[in-house]
Amino acid sequence: MPLLIIQGDITRLKCDAIVNAANNSLLGGGGVDGAIHRAAGPKLLEECRKLHGCDTGEAKITSGYNLDAKYVIHTVGPIYRGGMRGERELLESCYKNSLKLASENNCETVAFPMISAGVYGYPFDEALEVAVTTISTFLDNEENDMTVYIVIFSKRDYQISHELFDDVNRFVKDRMIFKAPLRGNIFGAVANKCAGATMYECTDASADASVEDYVKTHKDESFTQMLLRLIDEKGMTDVEAYKKANVDRKLFSKIRSNASYHPRKVTVLGFAIALKLTLDETDELLMKAGYALSDSDTGDLVVEYFITNEIYDINQINEVLFAMDQTLIGEYYPA
Ligand code: APR
Repeated sequence: MPLLIIQGDITRLKCDAIVNAANNSLLGGGGVDGAIHRAAGPKLLEECRKLHGCDTGEAKITSGYNLDAKYVIHTVGPIYRGGMRGERELLESCYKNSLKLASENNCETVAFPMISAGVYGYPFDEALEVAVTTISTFLDNEENDMTVYIVIFSKRDYQISHELFDDVNRFVKDRMIFKAPLRGNIFGAVANKCAGATMYECTDASADASVEDYVKTHKDESFTQMLLRLIDEKGMTDVEAYKKANVDRKLFSKIRSNASYHPRKVTVLGFAIALKLTLDETDELLMKAGYALSDSDTGDLVVEYFITNEIYDINQINEVLFAMDQTLIGEYYPA
């Protein structure tokens, strides 16, 4: 199921549950804790008093009161003291125990702040890596049918590994400035068989024959048919494919049941990453849905960077897209 990084104020999200980065007393404080109590109203504190606190790494659930969220899940992150005192394990437990409570209360949408990354001093990019890894592992489990948001309060806080970010940035700038030569597209695969001939110089008879075969076998293939064929060819299950594509189960069943379904471009790109497609295969799948990668679109170029470098980690790609103010890939329903 989708894991999405968004920017905003968690108290305004219309999710089934929002998670509070609380302290052991559960009696409120500053930061997101203070914001949630202010937005929920005094009844939240009244209920928290009856919980008699919460150990670090543990989680407890209350109603949401005046919040749009039905529940507040209070968890207490570790205070960062250099990273050698089990802070990572405790932070992972915060996410695991909160997700467990959300699942037990049939939540379909859950939003997390960046636990411990504020007053408790956990380095932001390490805290983000723990959050993404722990939540993704939970969502990889077929039974966990949930959309999870990681809410970044201020872009200023947002840091990802500079090396990766700088690398992607360089790639995007180069491609935009030097207008890369036309890439192979639907016939790219055939052109490649012409051993280095460029797009339309194929004179080899076998290439002509294979173009006809290619068109014959693929001419009527719709986006859905091509997607389902690729899932089979890659030896993946439907569940593996849509989870790795950051696509919602409900959306996938819509695609599967409708041969002429027209997906959003970010959905097609999510599946291109899930299926580890090459650039040519990605172009072809996009074309089936009426899209193409554009050298003047930053988001497209970011995805092209990752495919070119065969990095098919959709969360890593979405972290960079988020940092560059681009639309995330996969399919999601804004909260
Ligand atoms: N929405 C989303 N995120 C927010 C919001 C908000 N309204 N307000 C703050 N944040 C972000 C911060 O920018 C930070 O990235 O939440 C993250 C966690 O910061 P803190 O709230 O300081 O939480 P934490 O670092 O876990 O420290 C917990 O702080 O507020 C006290 O009572 C709390 O003692 C506890 C300690």
